[in-house]
Amino acid sequence: MSFNILVIGDIVGKPGRTAVQQALPGLREEMSIDFVIANAENIAGGSGMTKPLLAKLFSSGVDAVTSGDHVWKRREIAAEMENEPRLLRPANLPAASPGRGWTVIQNGDGRLVGIISLLGRVYMNSLLVDDPFQAADAAIKEIAVQTNLIIVDMHAEATSEKIAMGWHLDGRVTAVIGTHTHVPTADARVLPRGSAYVTDLGMTGPYESVLGRRIDRVLHKFTTGMPAPFDVARGDVRFCGALVTASTETGMAVSIERIEKRIEDGNI
Ligand SMILES: [Fe+2]
Ligand SMILES: [Fe+2]
Repeated sequence: MSFNILVIGDIVGKPGRTAVQQALPGLREEMSIDFVIANAENIAGGSGMTKPLLAKLFSSGVDAVTSGDHVWKRREIAAEMENEPRLLRPANLPAASPGRGWTVIQNGDGRLVGIISLLGRVYMNSLLVDDPFQAADAAIKEIAVQTNLIIVDMHAEATSEKIAMGWHLDGRVTAVIGTHTHVPTADARVLPRGSAYVTDLGMTGPYESVLGRRIDRVLHKFTTGMPAPFDVARGDVRFCGALVTASTETGMAVSIERIEKRIEDGNI
């Protein structure tokens, strides 16, 4: 039997949230999606997460949420991280940080899906971040006794570190999905041993921007060297992600297809 997993790239601010609300219910139907994972560390004003915003995401059809370097930008999410089993922080943060870095969730049909959230270290503030390769190995060991459907969100800056993770996990997980850079990459493929891979899904948010932020603000900073508030932009909103089709017998991917949908921005 095949199992369709939709993975949604970094949801940025209100435009990103609106895009998910508008596009997801239809996509779920249209593509017979069995499970939805979204990276949501940028949903609150472009950085961080809040409980009410996450609740909206879950009610529009997201089954599990991953995060990354901005996970604690809104400190109040720490309590929610402990209480909400569908919400993940990176697995390779210090063990004493709140919440969990991997989980197994049952979908509506009773199928179990394992999800692992990882944070890269190359060109990132990695002082308190452990080895993501080791963290992935440890999480897979625990998850594999429960299910063979495992999706890894590799939230990282360097393409090399993400690609290396793809090869490291090939044949052991259903998919290794890259997030964080907000720019979609054209390298979605199924690796030789059966894991789907893409370096970056691209953000779900406004593309008339610099990585989701207002162009004038970012240009001001680059051209003057002076700080500027990086407000979330509004134009050219797109929903970006990938559809991974997996075999429930083997847990391996059959295909991965990038999804990019323009959103009517009338009410954003
Ligand atoms: Fe992001
Ligand atoms: Fe990030």
